[in-house]
Amino acid sequence: MSNSHTSVRIAGTGSYLPERIMTNADLEASVDTSDEWIRTRTGIRERRIAAEGEFTSHLATKAGLQALEQSGIAPAEVEMIIVATITPDTLTPATACYVQQQIGALNAVAFDVSAACSGFLYAMELARHSVGAGAFKNALIIGAEKLSAFVDWSDRNTCVLFGDGAGAAVLVPSTNGDGKILSSHLGTDGAQAELLNIPGGGSACPVTLENAPEKLATLAMQGREVFKHAVNAMKRASLEAIESAGLTSKDIKLLIPHQANLRIIDATVERLDISRDDVFINLDKYGNTSAAAVAIALDEANRQGRIAKGDKILLVAFGAGLTWASAVIEW
Ligand code: COA
Repeated sequence: MSNSHTSVRIAGTGSYLPERIMTNADLEASVDTSDEWIRTRTGIRERRIAAEGEFTSHLATKAGLQALEQSGIAPAEVEMIIVATITPDTLTPATACYVQQQIGALNAVAFDVSAACSGFLYAMELARHSVGAGAFKNALIIGAEKLSAFVDWSDRNTCVLFGDGAGAAVLVPSTNGDGKILSSHLGTDGAQAELLNIPGGGSACPVTLENAPEKLATLAMQGREVFKHAVNAMKRASLEAIESAGLTSKDIKLLIPHQANLRIIDATVERLDISRDDVFINLDKYGNTSAAAVAIALDEANRQGRIAKGDKILLVAFGAGLTWASAVIEW
């Protein structure tokens, strides 16, 4: 960020998880899997599933309102809403438009970011620059997903991994003595786009009566390949953000990683010289909620008192695209 920019801080966080819990045992009843397989290969024990009639925008709105409440900003004062999602209510308009309507943030500019599991951190970086440059006084950023609507519930390779939820944060200019976002690093490798995607339902492959049985509008993934890229990218992105903040791994009080797979997190942490006790994990309860995961974990860490003023925390994510992103924040 250039020197003419003001620093930006997080003024409040929020999250929302749908009420319905789907356990590994519930999945055993519908696909050929076991609680033991899911737990040992992923660390996931249960996930939340949105109710019928509960859309991504509804989850996003609930998380967003909590973040606004904590930051003391009224909906009418919000100037920018960015929703990071790969499971929008509709292809157009953006889910952020429905959120704007639902929270009554009628003075905000609202749009979506599509960067899969890295989306919340992509949104944070866009908002940091927009608010830091003075173009907007504040920004409400939300990661929200209803992945249950885009999963093939008969495919055990994917359906055990994902869940629904939303997390949010409000960004405002930072004044002397406040915390601030210290650094950020984003990356994309579009050459690997086919490793993890939703092949149907877009202009390349509309869903038709003929292809409907193929369930092309659901997540398709080459799990083992994605796993390898995830560990490398999470490590590299973490080190980039730590270094550009002028810090070392030892300065990081809490690591909040993307919550896809406990083995990915463990392999990343091993390479970073960060103690396992300083890593926030909630994927056992929620599974992989893509763009929502880091945002939900940030809010839970904040509300559980895991972050104190002045602490330096590291957020890092990885997802379809392929995309990766990291940020170091002084709280
Ligand atoms: N229950 C039981 N068996 C399952 C299963 C399930 N839910 N899902 C897959 N299997 C089987 C496979 O069919 C395979 O059987 P085979 O050897 O007879 O072919 C076997 O388990 C092992 O599959 P493999 O792919 O080697 O497992 P893995 O140890 O790599 O774990 C993932 C699979 C998906 C958990 C892992 O690859 C992963 O987490 N990848 C990254 C996924 C991810 O994070 N995606 C989102 C990125 S944001």
